[in-house]
Formats: sequence, structure tokens, C-alpha cells
Amino acid sequence: MGLSSVVITFLISFLSLTAESTQPPYSCDASFHPRYPFCNPELPITQRAKDLVSRLTLDEKLAQLVNTAPSIPRLGIPSYQWWSEALHGVADAGLGIRLNGTIKGATSFPQVILTAATFDQNLWYQIGKAIGTEARAVYNAGQATGMTFWAPNINVFRDPRWGRGQETAGEDPLMNAKYGVAYVRGLQGDSFHGGKLGERLQASACCKHFTAYDLDQWKGINRFVFDARVTSQDLADTYQPPFQSCIEKGRASGIMCAYNRVNGVPNCADFNLLTKTARKQWKFDGYITSDCGAVSIIHDEQGYAKTAEDAIADVFRAGMDVECGDYISKHGKSAVVKKKLGIGEMERALENLFSMRIRLGLFDGNPTKLPFGSIGPRQVCSKEHLHLALDAARDGMVLLKNTNSLLPLPKTNPTLALIGPNANATSLVALGNYYGRPCNLVTLLQAFQGYAKDTRYHPGCHNGTHCDRASIQDALDLAKNVDYVVLVMGLDQNQERESHDRHYLGLPGKQEQLIHTVAAVAKRPVVLVLLSGGPVDITSAKFDHKVGGILWAGYPGELGGLALAQVIFGDHNPGGKLPITWYPKDYIIKVPMTDMRMRADPATGYPGRTYRFYTGPKVYEFGYGLSYTNYSHNLISLSQTTLHINISSTHYYVTENSETIRVTNHGSMSGKHPVLLFTRQGKVRNGNPVKQLVGFESVKVDAGETVQVGFQLSLCEHFSRANEGGSLVIEEGSYSLVVEDHEYPINITL
Ligand SMILES: *[C@@H]1O[C@H](CO)[C@@H](O)[C@H](O)[C@H]1NC(C)=O
Ligand SMILES: *[C@@H]1O[C@H](CO)[C@@H](O)[C@H](O)[C@H]1NC(C)=O
Ligand SMILES: *[C@@H]1O[C@H](CO)[C@@H](O)[C@H](O)[C@H]1NC(C)=O
Ligand SMILES: *[C@@H]1O[C@H](CO)[C@@H](O)[C@H](O)[C@H]1NC(C)=O
Ligand SMILES: *[C@@H]1O[C@H](CO)[C@@H](O)[C@H](O)[C@H]1NC(C)=O
Repeated sequence: MGLSSVVITFLISFLSLTAESTQPPYSCDASFHPRYPFCNPELPITQRAKDLVSRLTLDEKLAQLVNTAPSIPRLGIPSYQWWSEALHGVADAGLGIRLNGTIKGATSFPQVILTAATFDQNLWYQIGKAIGTEARAVYNAGQATGMTFWAPNINVFRDPRWGRGQETAGEDPLMNAKYGVAYVRGLQGDSFHGGKLGERLQASACCKHFTAYDLDQWKGINRFVFDARVTSQDLADTYQPPFQSCIEKGRASGIMCAYNRVNGVPNCADFNLLTKTARKQWKFDGYITSDCGAVSIIHDEQGYAKTAEDAIADVFRAGMDVECGDYISKHGKSAVVKKKLGIGEMERALENLFSMRIRLGLFDGNPTKLPFGSIGPRQVCSKEHLHLALDAARDGMVLLKNTNSLLPLPKTNPTLALIGPNANATSLVALGNYYGRPCNLVTLLQAFQGYAKDTRYHPGCHNGTHCDRASIQDALDLAKNVDYVVLVMGLDQNQERESHDRHYLGLPGKQEQLIHTVAAVAKRPVVLVLLSGGPVDITSAKFDHKVGGILWAGYPGELGGLALAQVIFGDHNPGGKLPITWYPKDYIIKVPMTDMRMRADPATGYPGRTYRFYTGPKVYEFGYGLSYTNYSHNLISLSQTTLHINISSTHYYVTENSETIRVTNHGSMSGKHPVLLFTRQGKVRNGNPVKQLVGFESVKVDAGETVQVGFQLSLCEHFSRANEGGSLVIEEGSYSLVVEDHEYPINITL
């Protein structure tokens, strides 16, 4: 384990602290006169915001309604940038963050889909907290003009083709809900269990994209024009629950309305969604931004509004507060002149916006003297945060196959061939999208050389992951002459990204051919590592007996190379589980991406989506994942409301030395093991899910140890189902609680 601390020490010294720091922008400087009521921290925040808004001229008001809000020098108010990004680390993808001063990078955590595979809510929370802390450090260093971050992305990963599925916590609504809550609480400065946070924010999180947004670009249909036809039932138990939790339990201070329409109505112009549901029903008290350009498309692309002015009037009437874009800069004034946009609606929006800035502590005088003011550059890419990035990567990796315990490989300094288009992944591949600029990236090759000095590398393909042509002969020459072969294949942003959904679920180009040809000549079965966000149909590798081990590594972030090497050489026991169903290739032939229905429709051959409704063939199931340890589960008791499960770790792995077979009783091979609890209804009817995740807990189990985990179950929360009208109901009858392959029957009578 020495390797990780060596690398981390190196990374910390890499962080340069040379450049001059700059003042962060703020209002209400003690030297500025007169002292306005909006500067008075004793007054309630809404009163301060109202006071401020009442002092603005019409032009000043209009100018504040877009993401790049200009300064108002006569009131001592600096400019503000609403758009910043922090999906899995503070990023400079938005406009509010500059990583070019004292702070030149930020901890780059794994892409969210891999972090999700840990099923570890505490880890998710710690990551959110680390990102919030680093964000505040960037602001304090004078390198941020905003503290409003447009993450998390909590849309369910409905279709395996979705280019942005990698940004989410997978296909299950409960997982996205819990991920959102953990991330938001961490980033905003709340405690893990919530409730600590008052109005003050460390940084502001934004739950996006509200709602039913999960198509980017498929067969010429893009997110700007797409009209998602969603049933009330699917809305109630699939699309909305993550948002409801994010607001009610996470107390998120931001929401982003999505580009697409839902049942004909553009999300940003939907009063029922933004005002009736989010603000009134769920008690949302933050600000609502549009996605970037989402106001203009309501007229320009969707033709929903007859004029530009109507589009602007529609969104403010619906409850949106700020536009990402410049449509209001162009057409806002004329919307007011034509009496389409009312002053009252503008003022409501402005009060929400300035309340946010006040909650962030930007109107209380010098913020470096306030809570969060002492967070400094040394807290960026700190040892703790880098360890967290390493933990997320190695706990998320999913072991899909391990025939005859091929893995872990022996730490006997074997000769090794690292082959494949992702084997020396550049930052773009290892980090996924919306990444923070890493402090330093440990490539796979560097990390492997720490275990096997003689590691030889070949990309195997001529053209990256496209792999139009494979360098078969070179790869074979290399593979024949080493002890072990590790193939690193998969996808990158060329196949799956924003504005680009996949059109093929298999491995691109000649990748499959490369795997089987190399495996056929290697001395021992090969190890296949897949980098991808979405699922890949690797059926042929699954059944190729010369492929001994398969690991899915998502996009593992800046310490992902190290994490992978530690897993492959047994310094870490993999425990991740798939957060998405891995479908066979032909699934997408049967299912148009535009079909939003979750539920199967046997009459028309529509197979349904995700483990909750799809019962057809799968390459790997949601929740699947092996480990170097076997765990046994024992449902002990179901008292009134609590289910107790004993989890024992029973086997230890066997490692193979180059000459002798040595059985290593790694008494210390502990593992983190996610326990997933599902409910299953005895008789599925009314379009109810065949199975529903109702709880999960990641537990640490030492070798030979038995650990107990308890789940609190409540009828309303865990046994209710959405009916066709979209209401939650509880049905009497037989159910079972499912953990791995154990079922525990129960009866519900009301
Ligand atoms: C950082 O980038 C911003 C925006 O591009 C620029 O205005 C600023 O001068 C840069 N700062 C440094 C220290 O290079
Ligand atoms: C691996 O990638 C790094 C970073 O992109 C590059 O500097 C290095 O030359 C590559 N190594 C090989 C052997 O191609
Ligand atoms: C690789 O192949 C793809 C698909 O044929 C092509 O679009 C792309 O331009 C190629 N890239 C390079 C760098 O040759
Ligand atoms: C469950 O584990 C506890 C120790 O954590 C042990 O005392 C108990 O006997 C176990 N129960 C069963 C049924 O294995
Ligand atoms: C784990 O259990 C499976 C199924 O019983 C068995 O095939 C496998 O060898 C066990 N693995 C270890 C590492 O004990």
C-alpha cells in the first residue's frame, strides 16, 4: 500500500502556491457608503433581497436575469456568474471558475456512474463535501465569480444509449434520489443526516435536469426539439422521485429546468412543474435556472411560443428565475414594453436570485472573515480528498468475471502486456466529461509499472477506441512473450457524450476481434478491463474461456490508474456493483430511444426498461458484481419495522505464484460489500415493478468476520406503488424481501 502514499505525497508537492491571490468579489464592503438595509446581516434574508431589488432600475433588473449578471457599481454590487460546474470535482467547464491562478487544478473524482457503483452513501456525501470545500477555496482565492454549481445530474439512466448516462447514479430512481441528497448535503455544507444547514450555504448545488430529460441526440431527434411523452405512472415512480428527494431531503438550493418538452409543454415554461410541484408541494426555496439556451428554443426550435417575447413571458410566469443564455438581453425589454413580462414576475425572480447570493455570504462584507472564509488553497487536492478519489475509484470497480480466481495477479513482478486503446488513457478518457482539471493524473501505465516493472504497452488499435483497424500482429507478438496480458478496451467520449447518444451497444470497431485473437495466444487467460459509462455487450468475452477476468472501471478519475492496479494486484478487494442493466446488443433494435415508457407492453413486444420492468435476456444484471471474497447473507429477523441481515465473509482468495501454487490466507483481505435490499410483489399487476430496490448499505467486512446490517422499512415508503393515475397506493398481498438470492416472504394486510 506504500505506493498510494508515495503518489499522493508527490501530488501534493506538485500543487504550486506561487501566484498572487486575488480578492474574492463581494458586496457591502465596510468602506462603502451609504449602508443599505440589504447589507444588514441582522435582517431576514428575504427582506434584504426585497430591499435590494427595490433599488434597481428597470434596465438593471432585466440585466440581472441572465447567467452573466453584470455589476451595479452605484450600489457596490459586483458581477456574478450563475454558471459553474462541479459534476465530479470543481470544473472550469462553466464560466464562474478559473483554475489559472494560485489554484491550478482540483480533485478529479471518478465519473459519477463509477462512484454510484460503490452504493456507499457516506462516500457520496464525503465527495460532495470535498467538492464544496474546494469550491469555497477557489472563491476565497479570488478565482470564482460565482458559487452556484450545476450539479448533480439526477435524471435516471433510462436508455443504455444515453450519452450523458455516465453523469448519473444509474437507472434506479432510489439510487439517484439518495445520490442527489448525499451530494447536495455535502456540497452545501449540511451534515450527512441533514438538518444542520440553516440558510447559509458553503456552495449551492442544483438538481438537474428537471424533468424527464435523458435523450441528447438520437436519429436526428435532439433534446431541443424532443417532446417526451410520459405517463403519470412513470412520472410518479421513475422520473420525479429523485427531484422530490433532492429538494425535500437534500434541501437543494437550485433546480435546472430541462430543454425538452414533457407531454407538449417545455419544462422551463411549465407552471405545474416549477411552481405548483417544486415550490408549493415540495417547498423548494432556492432559484430555478434554465439549461443553457433553453428559453430561446421555446420559440426558435419548438415553436411553442409564437414570439421571443412570449417565450420570455412564459418562463417567468411558470416560475423560472434566471436564464442561461442571452435571449432576455435581446428580447427582455421588448417583452416588458409589450406588457408580456410583468414587473411582479421579474421582481419575484430577482428576489430569489439575490436571496441566493446573500445566503452564500456575498453581501456580508469581506467573506474571508466569515464562516467558510478560512478555507484556503491547501484544502484543494489535499491528501484526504485525493484518498477519497482513490477510494471511490477502487470501491466502484465491478468484477464481472473471475474464472478460477485468475485475479488478483501475483505481486511477484511478472512480465506484463498492457494492450488496448484505453491502456494508456489520456485525461479525456479516464475522467469522463465535466471533469475538474486534475492536480495530476496517474496513468494506468505508470501505476502498473509500480507492480510489474516490465510492463509493455501497445494500443492495439490504429484509431483509439474507434479501432477501425487493429494492430493484430504487434499485439500478438507482445502477448505471446509475457506472463500476463491485461486488455484495456471500451469507450470514450467519442461514443458517448453530451449531444451524442450511442447507436451501438457492443465494443466499437475491431476491439472484439483484438480481444479474442490476443486471448487465444496468451500463456494464461487474459484480463479484460472496460472503461465506459454506459453498458457494453461483451457476451463473447463473457463466454470466451481464455478471458479469465473482466473488470468494469467506469471513467475512474485522476487516481483511477492507481485504483485499477491496486485491484488487479490484490491490494484492494473490488466490491462495486452495476448501477445499470447491461443489455444485449439487439435490445436497442426493439426499443426506440424516444419511447419514454418504463413498463413493458407485451401486446406490442415492447420489453420495458431497467431491472424494474425488463425481464428479457441480460448480459449482466443491475446489482451484479463479484469480489475476491465470498459473502454469505443471512436474513435474521424482521421485527416490526427493522430487517436484520448477517453478512459473513467466508472465503479467501488463492494466489498463484509463477512456480508453486501457494495458498495465501489473506486474513486481512477485508472488503467493502454493498448490501442491496429489494422488494418483490408476489403477483405483479397494474404495471408494478417486478422488483424494486428499497435500501442499500455498504458495509466493511473483515475476513472471517460477521457483520450485521439493519434496514428500517416503512409501508408507505417501501411498499407503495404508483397507480395509473400517478397516485401512490399500497396493495395488500404477498411480497418478499430479496437480498442476493435469498427471499424472505412477508404478507401485507391493511
Ligand atoms: C485567468 O483567466 C481569466 C479568464 O480567461 C483571465 O481574465 C485572467 O487574467 C487569468 N488569470 C491569470 C492569473 O492568468
Ligand atoms: C502514455 O500517455 C502519456 C500521457 O498522455 C504520454 O505522455 C506517454 O508518452 C504515453 N506512453 C506511451 C508509452 O505511449
Ligand atoms: C477514427 O475513426 C472514426 C470512425 O471511422 C473517424 O470518424 C475518425 O475521424 C477517426 N479518427 C482518427 C484520429 O483517425
Ligand atoms: C449474526 O451475527 C451476530 C454477530 O454480529 C451473531 O451474534 C449472531 O449469532 C448472528 N446470527 C445468525 C443467525 O447468524
Ligand atoms: C465463491 O463461491 C462460488 C460459488 O459457490 C465458488 O464457485 C467460488 O469458487 C468461490 N470463490 C472463492 C474465492 O471462494
